[in-house]
Amino acid sequence: METRKRRHIDVCLDGDVEYHGVTTGFERYRLPYNALTQTSLGRIDLSCEFLGKTLAAPVLIGAMTGGAELSGTINRNLATAAHRLGVGMMLGSQRIMFDNDAAADSFAVRDVAPDALLIGNVGLAQLTADVVPALHRVLDRVGADALAVHTNPLQEAMQHEGDTDFSGSLARLREVTGSLGYPVLLKEVGHGIGAAAAAELVDCRLAAVDVAGAGGTSWARVEQLVRYGEIRHPALGDWGIPTARALLEVRRTLPDVPVVASGGIRTGMDAAKALAMGADVVAVARPLLKPAIDSADAATDWLRRFIDELRICLHGCGAATLTSLRRRGVEEV
Ligand SMILES: Cc1cc2nc3c(=O)[nH]c(=O)nc-3n(C[C@H](O)[C@H](O)[C@H](O)COP(=O)(O)O)c2cc1C
Repeated sequence: METRKRRHIDVCLDGDVEYHGVTTGFERYRLPYNALTQTSLGRIDLSCEFLGKTLAAPVLIGAMTGGAELSGTINRNLATAAHRLGVGMMLGSQRIMFDNDAAADSFAVRDVAPDALLIGNVGLAQLTADVVPALHRVLDRVGADALAVHTNPLQEAMQHEGDTDFSGSLARLREVTGSLGYPVLLKEVGHGIGAAAAAELVDCRLAAVDVAGAGGTSWARVEQLVRYGEIRHPALGDWGIPTARALLEVRRTLPDVPVVASGGIRTGMDAAKALAMGADVVAVARPLLKPAIDSADAATDWLRRFIDELRICLHGCGAATLTSLRRRGVEEV
């Protein structure tokens, strides 16, 4: 599994892994510009509450890695950036920690980010009532505040020896969500949670849903490149629910559940549109991979530029707070 994790990192750094024919859909919306804004840029308040913690900006570092040697560096640099900027962080899948104690070190970030919102991670395909004690152990060990469960049937189907049996997974999600004792967030990995999936979640006690839609990193492309060294199924690589659409569908179906917009969020303007369209926070994964390998300063700089752009977006549309941004909404282009 360690080798596979390393291949994922290498392919995500150098491979052609973004969607080809599908975009997030945010280009179809415009944030209303207001030449007579009455805000002061330095006093724009981006703070928000998410999963019981206060964030200085509505941003999460997306779930990426853990287990491989390089993952320790990546996670610590990302966590340092999260701590400096007051944003949240999702860890990569902790499955490897279930039976490999040494892997825990690559997830250990609490010493550099003592107060940051930290979200653990496991796959829906691996989620059974039997793993609950092990899950508790690995979440406690990293000091997580919550658990993200990733549902990824397309990714697993493209993976060599992937977990392809998702039957009964919804019932198991409901059971574990009700009994785990940690807030549970459900996410995709870049192919999108839309209306059909959201309708199944109405009676599930989820703390949040991360739509992780299409238009950014395509895991059906990543897995093909890891497995074959080439794209053999381009149509599957381009299959997913565009992030803007997934966001609107989940928001409509689950009006009271906090929503994370992710999948192809690349700029502060993307983030501003997603927040104006009803997202509570946004998450960014692959663009942070290279900076996180370079240094904590590089990861911090990337995120700082992103948040600065988001702040200017609020200023330019006359919104001093995120609540006010949501009231402004977006216009269809
Ligand atoms: C190198 C890498 C590793 C990832 N590993 C995980 C993982 O372990 N668990 C998970 O839920 N998502 C994982 N993801 C998926 C991201 O969290 C995210 O949903 C997806 O990449 C789409 O966001 P993006 O377009 O901003 O990259 C990974 C992404 C990258 C780039």
